[in-house]
Amino acid sequence: MTDTLLAAHLTDIHYPVPSSFQLRDLLSKRITGAVNLLVSSRRAFRPHLLKSLLGHLRELGVSHLLITGDLVNLAYAEEYLRLRTHLEESGFSPGQVSMVPGNHDAYLPSSMAQETFWENLGPYAWAAGPTDYPTVRTFGGLEIIGVSTALPTALGMAYGEVGQDQLARLEELLRRKTGRFRVILIHHPPTPGADTWHDGLVDGAQLRRLFWKHGADLILHGHEHYDSETRLPGPGGSTIPVLGTGCAILDDPRPALRARARLLRFGPGGLERQWLIVHDAASGHWRPPAGSPIPESPTGV
Ligand SMILES: [Fe+2]
Ligand SMILES: [Fe+2]
Repeated sequence: MTDTLLAAHLTDIHYPVPSSFQLRDLLSKRITGAVNLLVSSRRAFRPHLLKSLLGHLRELGVSHLLITGDLVNLAYAEEYLRLRTHLEESGFSPGQVSMVPGNHDAYLPSSMAQETFWENLGPYAWAAGPTDYPTVRTFGGLEIIGVSTALPTALGMAYGEVGQDQLARLEELLRRKTGRFRVILIHHPPTPGADTWHDGLVDGAQLRRLFWKHGADLILHGHEHYDSETRLPGPGGSTIPVLGTGCAILDDPRPALRARARLLRFGPGGLERQWLIVHDAASGHWRPPAGSPIPESPTGV
């Protein structure tokens, strides 16, 4: 790639609209999510932090948002509508946003129907339905590949699955050599230790095999709600950086969990820098965490 491009990784926004809860939901999985929202006021997802973060990213000159799922909490249409309004008011057009769904965006089977995720966020997701994955689009020298792991699960479960059809299409995509820097967006972490049966990626081993055979240049994920940096094996003894980022708008006093985003600067050499910005509750500013200055050279990710 030739151009310099500043992007931001946001994930697990969990946009909350507690008032959406309805009596009929007492009989559904939404009851546990709603109770969590009501009792966890100490660590809550705050819409005003999303407005603040998007405004700050615009000021920084971020030209593309990379969002890896769990956009909302209970997958009500109202949550999606309000989140979409934030995006529209922020000035980031659908052409400047790439996103994939997470398990909370498929909270109930109906959540994946046209009236919710796809109806409201389809233009930002570059997909009209769950069978459109993997998605592919280019932005500058980047090739952004969206992988969906979202599917409805039983109460207490949060696992994800890529599925055989999507794996086959993804292999065809990765097999092509375009010369672009390939960024994979996926909600569930594709790393071996995250393969738990109740909230992991159930076919993670098959996905890792594709990366090992055909490669990728960067994998971004969410779901874990904390920051992580690791690598997966790639072709010919190479390794692929895998970055997870904590929740974007979590109003938690603990510095490691507080609202954050990851900035990614791409240039001729691919990913040249990456660093976190965290919301400072006292000043209201977004800045790198204490003791973590912006790296001056390409990091080891
Ligand atoms: Fe999440
Ligand atoms: Fe998740």
